[in-house]
Amino acid sequence: MPTSASTLDFGYPWWLSYGHVVVLAPALAGLLFGYFRKWSKWPMIFFGVLAFWSGAAFLLVRLGLDINGRADLPTESFLRSGTGRVLDLGAGTGRSSIMVLAARPHATMVALDLFGESFERHFGPGESPRQRLLRNLKAAGVERRVTIETSDMRKLPFEAASFDAIVSSYAVDHLNREGINQTLAEAARVVKPGGEFLLILIANDKWARFLFGPLLSHGGTRGSAWWNTRVKEAGFQVVEEGTAPITLYLLLRRP
Ligand SMILES: C[S@@+](CC[C@H](N)C(=O)[O-])C[C@H]1O[C@@H](n2cnc3c(N)ncnc32)[C@H](O)[C@@H]1O
Repeated sequence: MPTSASTLDFGYPWWLSYGHVVVLAPALAGLLFGYFRKWSKWPMIFFGVLAFWSGAAFLLVRLGLDINGRADLPTESFLRSGTGRVLDLGAGTGRSSIMVLAARPHATMVALDLFGESFERHFGPGESPRQRLLRNLKAAGVERRVTIETSDMRKLPFEAASFDAIVSSYAVDHLNREGINQTLAEAARVVKPGGEFLLILIANDKWARFLFGPLLSHGGTRGSAWWNTRVKEAGFQVVEEGTAPITLYLLLRRP
């Protein structure tokens, strides 16, 4: 459904934010019903465990990940100068571009996305993807600093050394190994010497498994060591590494 120009709508599926309530509500109802009907302990333990897991997961997802809310930079070290031309690889509906532009008010951005099948898989069909992105950029008041580019991050249509910095959030980890190698090589080509790349990935860690089980297939089994090897092969130095809820981030620099 179209939203007003002043409302941010990142468009991630509802179940990522509220899916656990679908389990929590019947689990609590089962506990209540069982209490009054004096059920034996095993069904009560079953509903109790279910209610505990879904309640805890709901709170963690809402307060920690908050995927449909504004994101904060995971590290203040990124683009400390506060200015420069930044490229967002896999901008989607704008959450990562807005994250950077809100924190770095003198930076400009090229928000790049293929706006194809992967976009529709994440954000659903409907209005033109570029319009959805533009609407959010306007709602955040940053649209004058952004150029939208429809391209494949594996083969970037830019000159070498044409960006001061790159950001990519929850996007590169969609690609297969060949696509990841191509994208990292392209990122190393288009960022200036000394430029930074903030690479944000879904961490397939115990928290992600606790919250979503097998539903979150993002990123496969790749962990920090795997990504460190890939980015170094592409010619980046790892300046900083850290975690945020269900997230692994690497701050990279091109020597
Ligand atoms: C999960 S979304 C992330 C969007 C945004 N960065 C965020 O943090 O919310 C992944 C995005 O990557 C885009 N994408 C996937 N493969 C791509 C490719 N080869 N080139 C450009 N964009 C791609 C998809 O269209 C999708 O919008």
